[in-house]
Amino acid sequence: MKILAIESSCDETAAAVVEDGRKVISSVVASQVEEHKLYGGVVPEIASRRHAEAIVPVVKNSLEQAELTLKEIDAIAVTYAPGLIGALLVGVNFAKGLSLSTGLPLVPTHHLRSHIASNYISNPNLKPPFLCLVVSGGHSHIVMVEDYTKMRIIGKTRDDAAGEAFDKAARTMGMPYPGGIALDKVAEDGDPFAFKLPRPTVSGSQYDFSFSGLKTAVINLIHNSAQKGIELNKADVCASFRYAVVDCLKTNFLKAAEDLKVDKLVIAGGVSANRLLRSSLQEECDKHGLAFYMPEKSLCGDNAAMVGSQGYYEFLSGNIASTDLNAFATMSI
Ligand code: KG4
Ligand code: ZN
Repeated sequence: MKILAIESSCDETAAAVVEDGRKVISSVVASQVEEHKLYGGVVPEIASRRHAEAIVPVVKNSLEQAELTLKEIDAIAVTYAPGLIGALLVGVNFAKGLSLSTGLPLVPTHHLRSHIASNYISNPNLKPPFLCLVVSGGHSHIVMVEDYTKMRIIGKTRDDAAGEAFDKAARTMGMPYPGGIALDKVAEDGDPFAFKLPRPTVSGSQYDFSFSGLKTAVINLIHNSAQKGIELNKADVCASFRYAVVDCLKTNFLKAAEDLKVDKLVIAGGVSANRLLRSSLQEECDKHGLAFYMPEKSLCGDNAAMVGSQGYYEFLSGNIASTDLNAFATMSI
């Protein structure tokens, strides 16, 4: 079964053709990041306009690269939640129009479920159940994936998402948006123990995260040092901050796996590209005899291939939208 998938939840306009949820036939991503960089973050109004301009060429391109016509497609999957509402609406309305004109079934797909599904592409043998750490610019969740379309949130952030904390810390150090990627690179040359940073916990919930205190601590460290005329080693600050964020993520994730007696661990979302998160979780899982899966780096960020993968399982479970499908800025997984 071939699915044409569409993604427009944030600042990437993407389309892909995916076969049977696992095989990517084509995948096109048009990023707006260079434009949003000028403003230090995503400007929703600009994002919507750029999606509207890019959606037709991106979808056309994905079909051309797949060497397929719409007649050879079996269903259309689209991200309908969560995300920037104006951005989501571009993809949803385009997909609805395409579905109406072709008669193809329309499959509404949840963005975080799609991030999880990126692992089905990178790891062809991976099947639920497993425990997944979903870490992106807007979310930090520990999710029990009971089945392809049955999931339970075990823990989540009470304030900033991990990606958001990375981006804000990076911005304070003058790195361009989205700073998480640059911070990760600079951290490679630093000492993770150079600065002592807090490990905020959430009282009453051992699986929930809180990154806002940690973010403020590193921002205060940078500002206070600048005021005193002390020049900090940037690589050391990045390494210490990355180590602290990864430590918080790892601790709760491994504790949840132990308590739930899960032996299959998976990571997903933009932050799952983080080098330290990948290497240190791999190390911990090897040590404890746990299976560990991650998406290839090119599938960690937003793309439509992951939408085509999750869309396939949504379709199999009977999740077909009617013509009044709407987009939603927030929605539980
Ligand atoms: O999943 P994603 O592409 O978009 C959302 O759904 O939010 O995640 C984007 C986030 C950004 O905050 C970005 O800085 C972060 O993922 N990110 C990273 C790395 N690569 C991307 N954070 C830390 N280390 C990385 N290597
Ligand atoms: Zn995302």
